[in-house]
Amino acid sequence: MSANASQASKRERQMSMRGGRYSPGWRQYRAPFQPLGNDRAMFGPLQEMLLMHERKLTLCSTLEDIADSLPEQVERLTCLTVASALLPLLHHAHHLEETIIFPAYDALPDATKAAGTTQRLRIEHVEDECFADELTEILFKIGREGEVANAEMFGFMLRGFFEGTRRHIAFEREHIAPIVRAAFAKSPHEI
Ligand SMILES: [Fe+2]
Repeated sequence: MSANASQASKRERQMSMRGGRYSPGWRQYRAPFQPLGNDRAMFGPLQEMLLMHERKLTLCSTLEDIADSLPEQVERLTCLTVASALLPLLHHAHHLEETIIFPAYDALPDATKAAGTTQRLRIEHVEDECFADELTEILFKIGREGEVANAEMFGFMLRGFFEGTRRHIAFEREHIAPIVRAAFAKSPHEI
């Protein structure tokens, strides 16, 4: 085993121990929440958006698990994992949608699309990132200190976030994705 791999393995063991209850390794645990990184070259933008949706839904399920485990059963490692992944994943997904997917949708004929749709989705992105910023701070605090200051309020915040995110994703999958896919079906390399 190389020095770097040995160091990473040691760090994962330490993170698992700090979590209290058994948790899988750090890198393995974070993987479902990550942006695509070098793998993104394998996907077109539409496929990448749908994959980002899957990862955000996985993250929503984890946030729901945290809400259900408050206040005493919460896993500290899970909180740290989600805290470190939440904003980067949102930034990546929102940037992709706002720079490629939404402009493609907006360029379609008026009869094909609903007016003001992407403007509303962009506003939801800003709201989600502000909300996620607050959640990240609390999740890091729970992960570091192991205590939940106001479990009822935090549970309410978590549920508000993941329920809103699921609605947002459902709309993009059911309305945006099919229209954009159909519009570019004849030129698949453009989207
Ligand atoms: Fe979105």
